[in-house]
Amino acid sequence: MTSELGINGLNVSVNGNLILKGINLAVKTGELHIVMGPNGSGKSTLSNTILGSPKFKVESGSIKLDGGEISGLKPDERARLGLFLAFQEPVSISGVNVLSFLRTAYTKLNPSDKNIDDLKVKVSKVISKLGLSEEFLKRSLNEGFSGGEKKRLEIAQLILFRPKIAILDEVDSGLDMDSLRILGDAINSLKKESGVLLVTHYERIFDYIKPDFIHVLMDGKIVGSGGMEVLQNIKEKTYSFYKNEAA
Ligand SMILES: Nc1ncnc2c1ncn2[C@@H]1O[C@H](COP(=O)(O)OP(=O)(O)OP(=O)(O)O)[C@@H](O)[C@H]1O
Ligand SMILES: [Mg+2]
Repeated sequence: MTSELGINGLNVSVNGNLILKGINLAVKTGELHIVMGPNGSGKSTLSNTILGSPKFKVESGSIKLDGGEISGLKPDERARLGLFLAFQEPVSISGVNVLSFLRTAYTKLNPSDKNIDDLKVKVSKVISKLGLSEEFLKRSLNEGFSGGEKKRLEIAQLILFRPKIAILDEVDSGLDMDSLRILGDAINSLKKESGVLLVTHYERIFDYIKPDFIHVLMDGKIVGSGGMEVLQNIKEKTYSFYKNEAA
């Protein structure tokens, strides 16, 4: 089944400051969209608004999943509809180990799935594919995790939860070459049955994935969209190329 995340005329403010100014975007199953842009341009604001973080106020415009308005829903309600966000800076929770976190999240997302015993087996498979040990499952969530371990845990969630639309905010930052390849493989496999929106600063990830669209976000606006030529423009002429385009 094809899903679509549709964003129209989206204006978003944080603490009374207008950050996103008229965003239009459509992400469908089978599509990989990349969002690039300078620091502070609004990329994380866009990601967090789609997932429903209450700090971000939708002033006007719409966010629809499969035609239904979701901008009034809570983050967990959106997650149950099939949206997934990997956080740029995930929270740590002491006393909750990785396995029970994954189990709770999975059960919430799939309340009708009674085969929860199989989940441990599935989790173990995914964890070992990502080069993490069984011991890792017993550790407190994100407590003392290295940057790469946090990212691998996010990738594990992507593989396990199979969201309709995945929003990945800088999941590729700070990854070593092996982890980067694993992330690339995970995105390519996810893309077969999901839509993916990936925020990134680095062209290294493009060695492993082929985006369908690259968007440039500057000062809260999408100032350019296209294919791989967008990356070429940024590389050769920096973001100022798009600043000039926008003006
Ligand atoms: N809670 C907040 N209070 C005030 N301003 C905020 C808040 N959160 C974000 N902003 C502002 O919104 C703007 C966009 O921030 P955002 O985090 O979306 O940028 P970004 O494009 O993700 O940047 P980066 O590439 O550095 O991650 C910035 O100017 C930031 O300071
Ligand atoms: Mg950000």
